[in-house]
Amino acid sequence: MPLVPLRVLLDHAAENDYGVAALNVNNMEQIQAIMSAAQETDSPVIIQASRGARSYTNDAYLRHLMLAAVELNPTIPVVMHLDHGNSPATCFSAIENGFTSVMMDGSLSEDGKTPSDYEYNVKVTKQVVEAAHAQGISVEGEIGALGGIEDGHGAGLSEEEAQEHLTDPDQAEQFVADTGLDALAVAIGTSHGAYKFSRKPTGEVLKMDLIEEIHRRLPNAHIVMHGSSSVPQELQDVINAHGGAIKQTYGVPVEEIQRGIQNGVRKINVDTDNRLAMTGAIRKVFHTKPEEFDPRKYLSPARDAMKEVCKARMIAFGQAGNAGKIKPKTCKEMVAFYKA
Ligand code: G3H
Ligand code: 13P
Ligand code: ZN
Repeated sequence: MPLVPLRVLLDHAAENDYGVAALNVNNMEQIQAIMSAAQETDSPVIIQASRGARSYTNDAYLRHLMLAAVELNPTIPVVMHLDHGNSPATCFSAIENGFTSVMMDGSLSEDGKTPSDYEYNVKVTKQVVEAAHAQGISVEGEIGALGGIEDGHGAGLSEEEAQEHLTDPDQAEQFVADTGLDALAVAIGTSHGAYKFSRKPTGEVLKMDLIEEIHRRLPNAHIVMHGSSSVPQELQDVINAHGGAIKQTYGVPVEEIQRGIQNGVRKINVDTDNRLAMTGAIRKVFHTKPEEFDPRKYLSPARDAMKEVCKARMIAFGQAGNAGKIKPKTCKEMVAFYKA
């Protein structure tokens, strides 16, 4: 089956009360890991690439890898999604290169760092929605801005700044009405990367009650949770046992994500957990077999480790068992849906 637009998967997820992991990729092994996890669990999948991933891989490599993924897995509906598009131009170039869904992240200015204002966010998001829907492509937007503090070196908003940019439910309601988007990313206290929380998060820092409030006001909106890696202790331990230096850190517990799914969360972005799993597996080979130099000998375990994380998330989020139940729609068919 061809690549499908995001909206098809999220509508099915909403009708059947589950969530779908949106998994970031930068290379062939990561795409293979996701596809074999999806095959083994009969899961629909969202594969996403950031701007950084696109420049690392080159759109042509990425497009052909994605086409190989659908050719080899004809029973699995696959979305090819742009993660954190920083401008309409970035979204449009993704669409030209085969993406079936784009995120216009107008919560930040074009530099991808500075929080923008509401009017700017509506303007760019609406511009992308109009152009994308005319081609049957889905659009995710974001209201509120996530923390991006990586390891104390300050990529993005600090923890304090992020708390000031949590999603305002009134504004979320207005934003959906003003833009007509397909999926709404919200800021509830999570951040990108491994260093999210310095202890297991409580409701003080991870505001799941905000999701409940947004869902109460917008019961038909497909909510997206960014920064949703769980940063499992065992993945930190594998890295540190083999020469790594990950400082003790905590992510978003899977049970909190499951609570979100009961309250309208349909897309859950996970990148860091897969990075940790691959890095741990590679470190282990380098550490225990220093004589090894065949890349397949460390990339295969890395791919297997990522596959296990993906399978666990697919099962926990409830997408497992649903691939075969989805009636796929092409972008062309979605043009009529959006016109109606
Ligand atoms: O939003 C963040 C994703 O984890 C992608 O990260 O920009 O380093 O590719 P990246
Ligand atoms: P993590 O860093 O928590 O995996 O979040 C990824 C993400 O939100 C990508 O958009
Ligand atoms: Zn994100």
